[in-house]
Amino acid sequence: MIGDVVGKPGRKAVAALVPSLREELKLDLVIANGENAAAGRGLTPGTAQELFDAGVDVLTSGNHIWDKKEIIDYIRDHPRLLRPANYPDGAPGVGRLVATTASGEKVGILHLMGRVYMPAAMDCPFRVGRREIDKLRTETHVILIDMHGEATSEKSAIGWHFDGEVSAVLGTHTHVQTADEQILPKGTAFITDVGMTGPVASVIGVKKEEAITKFLTQMPKKFETATGPAILCGAVVEVDGATGRATAIRRIRIQET
Ligand SMILES: [Fe+2]
Ligand SMILES: [Fe+2]
Repeated sequence: MIGDVVGKPGRKAVAALVPSLREELKLDLVIANGENAAAGRGLTPGTAQELFDAGVDVLTSGNHIWDKKEIIDYIRDHPRLLRPANYPDGAPGVGRLVATTASGEKVGILHLMGRVYMPAAMDCPFRVGRREIDKLRTETHVILIDMHGEATSEKSAIGWHFDGEVSAVLGTHTHVQTADEQILPKGTAFITDVGMTGPVASVIGVKKEEAITKFLTQMPKKFETATGPAILCGAVVEVDGATGRATAIRRIRIQET
């Protein structure tokens, strides 16, 4: 699972690193959060395709999913791009998918978004999560959740709530990797946030000078994505395919020079 890919520096890092990581770590499935892939806000069909071409199997998103209007038509025809499952009824696209690995294993991916300190009024991620997991479990016991949220408490609570029912709950959205990766007692791998894949000399991906000016003046400001070397952040989870229990979780941080 690769954390929020931010702009061109993030996309370039994915293209440069994912093919070799796939081989080195014998990855069966690569998921990336792409909500910031197009100039820091949303995805376009082209940027989504670029990430798929780089070896990403499934894209998740989050609160920025609708920022680029052209993604609305694209998401209807491209089920490998997920939006949070707990958007209210009527939102285009879907929030869950069963992917098949090269070796024929089925992996369920579920995308949820938190409600604490988040801009959209979402349905309850705990209740929607339960409903969606029940559907996925008719096909596979290997299930990974991208829990997109601001509050560490809400993401931790989702992890504990679904411990033993899914293989992994991996947090996204804050763009800052946390050091709390662990396997919960009933076999669910958990990390509060896998971090960002984007320009390292930045304020969560945007030009630092612009972020500082906004904090200093409180004036509206359109942020631009920072430039320069990127960091790729994520987590690798190992799962026992027979039981769906996680056997290992490891953080990844690779900085370009
Ligand atoms: Fe993000
Ligand atoms: Fe987000």
